[in-house]
Amino acid sequence: MRKTPVDFNTVNQKIKESNLESVGKASIREIKKLIDDIEKATEQKYIRMEMGVPGLPAVQIGIDAEKKALDKGVASIYPDIFGSYDLKNEISRFAKLFLDIDVNSDSCIPTVGSMQGSFAAFLTLNRMHPEREGTLFIDPGFPVHKQQIRVLGQDHQSFDVYNYRGDKLKAKLESYLETGKVSTILYSNPNNPSWICFTDRELKIIGDLANKYNVIVIEDLAYFGMDFRKDYSKPGEPPYQPSVAKYTDNYVLLISSSKVFSYAGQRIGMMIISNKVFKTRAPGLKRYYQFDSVGRAMIFGTLYSLSSGTSHTPQYALTAILKAVNSGEYNFIEVVKEYGEKARIMKKLFIDNGFKIVYDKDEDNPIADGFYFTFSYPGMDAEELLNELVYYGISAISLLITGSERKEGIRACVSLVKREQFPELEYRLKLFNKDHSK
Ligand SMILES: Cc1ncc(COP(=O)(O)O)c(C=O)c1O
Repeated sequence: MRKTPVDFNTVNQKIKESNLESVGKASIREIKKLIDDIEKATEQKYIRMEMGVPGLPAVQIGIDAEKKALDKGVASIYPDIFGSYDLKNEISRFAKLFLDIDVNSDSCIPTVGSMQGSFAAFLTLNRMHPEREGTLFIDPGFPVHKQQIRVLGQDHQSFDVYNYRGDKLKAKLESYLETGKVSTILYSNPNNPSWICFTDRELKIIGDLANKYNVIVIEDLAYFGMDFRKDYSKPGEPPYQPSVAKYTDNYVLLISSSKVFSYAGQRIGMMIISNKVFKTRAPGLKRYYQFDSVGRAMIFGTLYSLSSGTSHTPQYALTAILKAVNSGEYNFIEVVKEYGEKARIMKKLFIDNGFKIVYDKDEDNPIADGFYFTFSYPGMDAEELLNELVYYGISAISLLITGSERKEGIRACVSLVKREQFPELEYRLKLFNKDHSK
């Protein structure tokens, strides 16, 4: 029997009871359940890095606005499918002030979380051209997006961008676009799970190719402004959050409220469709909708069918939050900087104890410290490493489920780890390294 920080026998017993073939191959939710069970049985706390959930309280301005709206009686009234006028105006202002782009408020639409935004975007945009097949994912990525594509019965292709940064991205992307089969391209920036951020050079390559092949880029900005190497927090002042929207009019931007405003529970996000895409007419849409206009199909075809709009009170919340953000009264980036601070300390603890950061560079620059980071341990693949870390009270997920080709890579999310746990994390990593270094 081995002596490990979390009782070896109890961990083995719980793994056996969970019927998991291997901890290293389990899904995020399966790992969560297993660790909950082990924590209960041992009364020991894990360093929990498996779930990408906010670790900060929801923005109070939003909560107050929702309460007021409820008391005013909006619960009994259907919200407009295209979103409230106030909110649409604030989203359009936000786009101008923080991205430096011009979009009509008509093209700014609240969605039930960014997840509904991506689902609606796939559903509508991938049906514009009958001869095309679906989405190209620039991976690693968020596994649920591929699940959405599968549920829709659409096709997708993907590649791991690890070996195709900088100018190398062009030929790689073009090899997919040349086939004429791609309708949309999706990536997240900053990236979940690797926290790489595309440089302006890379965004220009993507934008130029989107123009050349008339493909729409769905840019997922779930972690808007959270590349803390630059200060994107001042409304109307550069630097602005980098975006493909600077290089093409073929874009749909998805901005989640879950992480930047810690508003995950109320399921509200923003979909910003470029003025050009909104007005585009695509005869292929007529196979499914009464309209061939993308904007009308998206709103009165897709969003009407999915949920008939976004719940009323979260729209009031987001309107109030954006008003405060746009006027410079509330600095949303200052609040979430805590994630970057924690990542900086945690990454150092891992590196000092023999671990390596897997996705470590944006072209020539070290990546930012933020919500996630990726790590590996020499001589182990991701499955072996996760299987072993569980005895040391550390939980995370394998990069393999994210479309990464780095077989050794693990994703760590910093949000739920408390600063008070850092000494314990250090102790466990030291012990791990002592037991495994050759
Ligand atoms: C890259 C990415 N996109 C979208 C989402 C989902 O956002 P929402 O909670 O707004 O649906 C997440 C949440 O983790 C994410 O990481």
